[in-house]
Amino acid sequence: MKMKAGHHRLKPALLILILNLCFYASYQLTEPQICKLCSGTVLNGTVVDQFCSASAGRIDGRCCLRNDNTSDPEHIIGLDLSNCSLTHVGDLKEASTALMIDLSHNSIVNISESVFQGFIELNYMILPADIGCPGGNASWEKDEVKEGNRLCEGQKNTCNQTGQLSINCPENSLCGPYGPGFFQCSCAGNYHGYKCLREGEFPNLLVFGPLGASTVVISVLLWVTQRRKVKSL
Ligand SMILES: *[C@@H]1O[C@H](CO)[C@@H](O)[C@H](O)[C@H]1NC(C)=O
Ligand SMILES: *[C@@H]1O[C@H](CO)[C@@H](O)[C@H](O)[C@H]1NC(C)=O
Ligand SMILES: *[C@@H]1O[C@H](CO)[C@@H](O)[C@H](O)[C@H]1NC(C)=O
Ligand SMILES: *[C@@H]1O[C@H](CO)[C@@H](O)[C@H](O)[C@H]1NC(C)=O
Ligand SMILES: *[C@@H]1O[C@H](CO)[C@@H](O)[C@H](O)[C@H]1NC(C)=O
Ligand SMILES: *[C@@H]1O[C@H](CO)[C@@H](O)[C@H](O)[C@H]1NC(C)=O
Repeated sequence: MKMKAGHHRLKPALLILILNLCFYASYQLTEPQICKLCSGTVLNGTVVDQFCSASAGRIDGRCCLRNDNTSDPEHIIGLDLSNCSLTHVGDLKEASTALMIDLSHNSIVNISESVFQGFIELNYMILPADIGCPGGNASWEKDEVKEGNRLCEGQKNTCNQTGQLSINCPENSLCGPYGPGFFQCSCAGNYHGYKCLREGEFPNLLVFGPLGASTVVISVLLWVTQRRKVKSL
């Protein structure tokens, strides 16, 4: 009985996981489409261009790509969607490995917080001045407006915002960063199942949720009982 109720509530989370798996699958096979979302290439001398040169990356359209390992596929480390007449920002998942994103010189009204969920590496953003840094200014070391752009520098670890690591996660689980303003909990050691209450060998529980300005909301509880089954979907 209990299991069934839990399962029903967790459906959206499973969907997210499946979408993520699909994304990773397609990401490995195809060239990132987001690099061609805007015309032209990363312009010479821009922040992303300089970062790319310094990081030994390769410019492809609006992206800076790099592979850390000869065995690893190339991934996006920089994304420059500036001056591209964007009015809203949709799915940027392909760029979730980016360290730097430039969205300046667009008339963007609003960016959903969830767009940058999972962007663990993101450490430098340039936005139109009237758009706030994702996750709020508490999620960044530096949040300032300069020359008409907003700069968000140095993503803070959301788990650490209260100075008390793991306070947001159930017992037997560890808190980890999951993009600006987000955290994720993963079961520690051999624990698994709903709220990491079971012990023994089994797939991990993932809990992730956004952190409001001061309040913590665990929006999604994910109970992966059969990882293999989910993957095959
Ligand atoms: C980019 O700018 C540098 C110096 O600012 C110059 O040496 C280089 O030739 C330029 N590259 C291109 C492709 O325009
Ligand atoms: C190469 O890949 C392995 C496995 O993914 C990783 O552990 C290692 O850190 C990578 N090396 C570099 C230089 O990134
Ligand atoms: C934006 O692009 C247009 C042409 O596409 C160019 O004339 C303009 O200078 C660019 N603005 C900035 C801020 O780069
Ligand atoms: C921004 O987006 C949020 C949620 O997506 C929405 O509630 C809000 O009304 C939007 N604000 C504007 C100015 O569009
Ligand atoms: C962060 O934002 C809050 C509310 O918008 C503001 O009161 C505070 O001064 C800001 N802090 C910094 C460091 O900008
Ligand atoms: C947590 O914050 C403290 C003080 O700001 C810092 O010294 C520590 O390295 C941080 N820990 C992590 C895991 O980010």
